[in-house]
Amino acid sequence: MRVPIIAGNWKMNKTIAEARELTTAMRDDLARLAADGQIEIILCPPFLAVPEVGTLVKGTPIRVGAQNLFWETKGAFTGEVAPGMLAEVCEYVIIGHSERRQYFGESDEHVNKKLHAALANQLKPIVCVGENLAQNEAGKTGEVVGAQVRAAFAGLSDAQARGVVIAYEPIWAIGTGKAASGAGANAVIGLTIRGALADLYDEATAQAVRVQYGGSVNAKNAAEFLAQAEIDGALVGGASLVAADFVAICKAAVR
Ligand code: 13P
Repeated sequence: MRVPIIAGNWKMNKTIAEARELTTAMRDDLARLAADGQIEIILCPPFLAVPEVGTLVKGTPIRVGAQNLFWETKGAFTGEVAPGMLAEVCEYVIIGHSERRQYFGESDEHVNKKLHAALANQLKPIVCVGENLAQNEAGKTGEVVGAQVRAAFAGLSDAQARGVVIAYEPIWAIGTGKAASGAGANAVIGLTIRGALADLYDEATAQAVRVQYGGSVNAKNAAEFLAQAEIDGALVGGASLVAADFVAICKAAVR
């Protein structure tokens, strides 16, 4: 059985003080929900707030993640954050979010390098894939998402692949209030994403990897996604900034 994993991607929101407030508002409820290991809950604040959130959830089952990393270990890369620096303060890292691909020029090759770097530093990666509206309307979802998965996982061993979480985030559903349907996301995850993993590795590995859905997940529609057989959790943007909503989404993941 794959343990559902709910992650809040706060994106570029919350100062350290605001992060403290949000974390404190939901910490006890989230800790209770994650207490018996039925679900995993990850908070992904902006870099600067990662240590503070980590301190606040210390001793609880709540985990912390960053939203990006660079693949080099150190050196003249002004403004970047190395994997080893993150490993000191968090356990997870989001890689290849569509906003990074869209606004910061991240390519499939960059995503692959970041994935290798994260795993080499014992960080648990959440790798994002997803098609844009034009690709979706042209019937190219399978082709695009399959290619993203193959490129991201290039050179990863079977054991490494099993430790990666994939987030299927159709770009047209991110921040638009227009979520995919549960059945639609389930089909892309089952056929395209697990299909690509089965090609790259084998069926057992394809079944072992956890795959989240992301894109306008909220307290109302979460249950529809989390009830799908192929969907192992959610990567939540906007709704993760509202304590009551994020708690409700996590509650919907408890089976
Ligand atoms: P929204 O939940 O705000 O649509 O964002 C989804 C997302 O991009 C999470 O990484």
